[in-house]
Amino acid sequence: MKYSKEQILEKFMHIIVEIAHLINQNQELDQMTLEILKLLQDYLDIPAAFICLHCNDVKSLQLYSQVGLCTQASAQCNPKAKSSCNTFFYEKCFDSYIHCSLYVESVPREELIRNELFKSGFTDDYCMVHIPILSDIEILGLLHVLIPERQKKLFIDETSILSLVAGKIGSGLVRKKLEIGLQHYADNLEKIVQRRTDELREKDAQLIQSGKLATLGEMATGIAHEINQPLGAISLIVQGLQKAKEVGKLTDDLLHDKLKSIHSQVDRINKIIQHLRIFGRNAPLSLDKTNINKPMTDVFELIGRQLEKHSILVEFYLDSGLFVCADNNRLEQVFLNIIGNARDALDEYEKTVEQYRQMSNPPAWAANWQKKIIIRSFRRANRVIVEIQDNAGGIPKDILDKIFEPFFTTKEVGKGTGLGLYISYGIIHDLGGEINVNTTIGIGSVFSVTLPEATE
Ligand SMILES: Nc1ncnc2c1ncn2[C@@H]1O[C@H](COP(=O)(O)OP(=O)(O)OP(=O)(O)O)[C@@H](O)[C@H]1O
Ligand SMILES: [Mg+2]
Repeated sequence: MKYSKEQILEKFMHIIVEIAHLINQNQELDQMTLEILKLLQDYLDIPAAFICLHCNDVKSLQLYSQVGLCTQASAQCNPKAKSSCNTFFYEKCFDSYIHCSLYVESVPREELIRNELFKSGFTDDYCMVHIPILSDIEILGLLHVLIPERQKKLFIDETSILSLVAGKIGSGLVRKKLEIGLQHYADNLEKIVQRRTDELREKDAQLIQSGKLATLGEMATGIAHEINQPLGAISLIVQGLQKAKEVGKLTDDLLHDKLKSIHSQVDRINKIIQHLRIFGRNAPLSLDKTNINKPMTDVFELIGRQLEKHSILVEFYLDSGLFVCADNNRLEQVFLNIIGNARDALDEYEKTVEQYRQMSNPPAWAANWQKKIIIRSFRRANRVIVEIQDNAGGIPKDILDKIFEPFFTTKEVGKGTGLGLYISYGIIHDLGGEINVNTTIGIGSVFSVTLPEATE
């Protein structure tokens, strides 16, 4: 069919609008170029069109998308290597590539048929137009369009509209390449973030473990007291049995009774050791529905006696039925640290109180001061809260600002690592909770651990 100049112009207008639309769609690059070629073929009623893109890897043009080419047509298009998409088109294709300008070559009907590159059965003479696809800075590839020889004047000579089409394709390609580049960058970034997160998790796990071991080491004296007490009791029972035997008063009932007592003391020691082993173990995190009072009472099995030795009075106000989803072991680690901190702060503050007591007229509060830790557990809305309160004189503002920082400690070398609250904060934060501190200078501090209440 022969078109008038107006018709051709109108068709190209549509093509340009459609290409702009295609570029804006979120399609893969090969899909986009194929759709553009189909558009050209449909609107212009041409037998074939193909796009070759410059491939940076092999430094040559490669056939990227085509309509109307035979399947056996060579997929290679390499003007630089002098092995063109087809030697038949080589020269003009090469010129177009080198000079960055549009080139046309006539292809008589017989040659087209002989060439066996295209699908159509040709009844007309045609010409092949090679149009460079350019970005602002480089040649991206070539658009090749096979048009009827008799329409050549309209397509080429009187309008530069094919260059405009190639220009549109060029901007679409640049945009797609940028999008792909950005996507790569985003994927890479995601991988880097993931790797870093994994590394941090690994470090955190190591930190938690070393924090636990430090706590264990520091608790050693407390544990010694804890085990000493039942051992002492056993020793007394055994002595009593020996005495009874000596004086001939060892009855079966007495023996049975005393052996039962020994058994219960051994049980207690076993329990403490068992507990220590679980606590020190580098076990993977296991989240279970846990009664919040359980890790707290477990902690007192480990350091209850030690607190007594330090003359610290402990009061409990624990509500029942408070469940959270947590790892018992990790919660113990948190409570152990906060209570351990309160113990150390009380020991420290005792020295200050002692100075007041030495004054000729000591203030009443100093005379009545007694080291005390109060532990409360309760529910507020759908949160479970544990408060650990001490009367150790509070934390000055300049210290308060730093207590959750890693390695911040006011304790003497070898006593504190400064990791206790940092690790505790991480553990509670991972469970969707928080640790807060409320302090009043001259009175004391309240550390509160808040966790989401476990649902059924
Ligand atoms: N109840 C408290 N009263 C006063 N100061 C406190 C209290 N709890 C914590 N602190 C201060 O916060 C600091 C940091 O506590 P954190 O538990 O992180 O480390 P640490 O106890 O010094 O060492 P670690 O716990 O690693 O053995 C303490 O050194 C102390 O100065
Ligand atoms: Mg601590």
